Amino acid sequence: MMSQSLFLLPGDGIGTEIMAEVEKLIAWTNETGLTDFIIDRGLAGGVAYDAHGVAITDGDVTKALAADAVLFGAVGGPKWDDVPYDQRPEAALLRLRKELAVFANLRPAICYPALADSSSLKRELVEGLDILIVRELTGGVYFGEPKTITELGNGQKRAIDTQVYESYEIDRIARVAFDLARTRGSRVHSADKKNVMKSGVLWDEVVKGVAKDYPDVALEHILADNAAMQLVRTPKQFDVMVTDNLFGDILSDVAAMLTGSLGMLPSASLGSPDPVTGKRKAFYEPVHGSAPDIMGKGIANPIAMIASFAMALRYSFNMLELADRVENAIADVLEDGLRTADIAQGDDRVIGTQEMGAAILAKLKA
Ligand code: NAI
Ligand code: MG
Repeated sequence: MMSQSLFLLPGDGIGTEIMAEVEKLIAWTNETGLTDFIIDRGLAGGVAYDAHGVAITDGDVTKALAADAVLFGAVGGPKWDDVPYDQRPEAALLRLRKELAVFANLRPAICYPALADSSSLKRELVEGLDILIVRELTGGVYFGEPKTITELGNGQKRAIDTQVYESYEIDRIARVAFDLARTRGSRVHSADKKNVMKSGVLWDEVVKGVAKDYPDVALEHILADNAAMQLVRTPKQFDVMVTDNLFGDILSDVAAMLTGSLGMLPSASLGSPDPVTGKRKAFYEPVHGSAPDIMGKGIANPIAMIASFAMALRYSFNMLELADRVENAIADVLEDGLRTADIAQGDDRVIGTQEMGAAILAKLKA
């Protein structure tokens, strides 16, 4: 097997605690020959600022660019509230996303049967739920120019944000969604607001064009506001949903909360395929932050981080069987009733970060 490189950036707070559990999994998959990962580690966020005075060093950015995949924990915390704005912990994340040019953000919303009763929806609506939201991450209204607040001189101010999409940006995110749909339920919903936005008209036109290259995938258009309603009404109607940066931000959070705690939610961010190797730059991280309120207590839920590693196995290394095994191990542990504090209810037995990591590893070995 050709060895493959993983660059680990645990970051701050619980980032280091949850990454340690992933490292134990990797040590085992390497030991047994299931994988041949070469691991390197760097500093991102407050820890990098403390060591080097920057949110991430150029050297670590170079390593991230060279790696087959980056696993990222989380950054930030009150300790760094007063560092210069350019070097605040989040700057590491923004710089990495930009330099890796990861324009496709994948946010799965999977409802583990064992947790179906902790959803805000009825069990029958969410049990077996498996949605993948594909959010455009590098364009749209968060980045479009002009972006200003001006004084109008009459005591009023005017704020402007600009939604900008070019067809190539829509084309490439649509292709990611259709490619992923082929590995799943072969259905894509494209969400926009073409009824009131020109960018929505273009979005729909380009997505429909791309769909012609995927006759085996069913495309349905949905208005973004209706998508929000449908997600909380009958979420299981969706397989893959592709949408822009703003709507994706909101819809992915809506979908995520159907399935439970922040501590359960993984994500992947993918770039364009390399013209020579076909490999995409890729960045895997939990959705949650560094949770300073619980850091150092050993109680953080490592599942979002471990599930992010499973996404790396699937999307960067095409190790589909091992990815399934890791995800099944998570489901099995939950089925056994093991819970970290964030997902515990009533008289569930509560375990810590290391116990949860060990339990998942034990299932993987079984
Ligand atoms: P957060 O996601 O860190 O925490 C929100 C709440 O969820 C807290 O009560 C926390 O204890 C809990 N929580 C989060 N992850 C958990 C886990 N794995 N297990 C158990 N409980 C968990 O968001 P918050 O509090 O808004 O931000 C804290 C710091 O993290 C800030 O400095 C913020 O800027 C940073 N942040 C970093 C992100 C990243 O690195 N991608 C994303 C979001 C926030
Ligand atoms: Mg959000």
